[in-house]
Amino acid sequence: MRTVFAVYGDPIEHSLSPNMHNAAFKELGMDCTYHAYRVKPARLRDKLLRAQAMGFGGVNLTVPLKQEALKIVDADPLATAIGAVNTVDFKDGMRGYNTDGIGAKRCIEEEGVQISGSNVLIVGAGGASRAIAFQFAKDGANITIANRTEEKALELAEEVSDVGNAKGCGLDDLRGLIADSDILINCTTLGMHPNVESTIATAEDMHPKLTVFDIVYNPLETRLLKEAKKAGAKAVPGVMMLVYQGAEAFKIWTGMEPPIYVMKKAVLEGLKS
Ligand code: ATR
Repeated sequence: MRTVFAVYGDPIEHSLSPNMHNAAFKELGMDCTYHAYRVKPARLRDKLLRAQAMGFGGVNLTVPLKQEALKIVDADPLATAIGAVNTVDFKDGMRGYNTDGIGAKRCIEEEGVQISGSNVLIVGAGGASRAIAFQFAKDGANITIANRTEEKALELAEEVSDVGNAKGCGLDDLRGLIADSDILINCTTLGMHPNVESTIATAEDMHPKLTVFDIVYNPLETRLLKEAKKAGAKAVPGVMMLVYQGAEAFKIWTGMEPPIYVMKKAVLEGLKS
């Protein structure tokens, strides 16, 4: 019998997860299908219980459901610390995971850059920043979280300090912070379409040993990444975070390593249309 997977969220029309997972299932010859459903937070519990009862293979969650899910599923320690669940597995009850940070980690490691022991500067203190900060701190990086609203950076850094090294600050001396960093990660919305000229930093702020990762993937090459290339730094595009977080969910559900290339192609085609 065909196994059903799904992503729940609201809005959900633009989700690229169905493209990505259906392409992987097809490539591997698996009798599985993946759909997107609009679900409001108040209905999440019912929808997850129904998915479980119907034998769904797994569910992804996106905005605005990731935090709500913590009240419903049995979340693993990382998802609990992050305060958000993006992957639900039904093999053993209703288990919750967060694969966003692992997605970012794989983007950087695939470029041959080591996370453990490196100085990582994360700009922004929203949901994406939380996921990446907890994951990278757990992996042994020294984290600095810099945010426009300094208080939010300080609060997040204090929480992250429970699992590793982290400090928080404002954006006043971003250039000085970048000079001391091995990896710079943009977790703000700066540079996102239509504000494609905005950027947290320019080439003058960077150095050639820096790796710059931008979670913004629309446009695929942001102004920040262009500036990184200008400075001779390594530029890592954010679209792969989407692919790798999906790949990690796929592994949790099926125990199989999905075809990354096929998933990436499906996402890029989805972004074009
Ligand atoms: P997400 O959950 O996707 O990470 P978010 O919670 O909306 O997104 O967080 C957006 C981040 O971008 C925040 O850290 C925000 O800074 P504030 O906490 O000060 O609001 C940051 N951000 C948005 N616009 C910005 C700007 N023009 N300059 C600097 N930071 C900005």
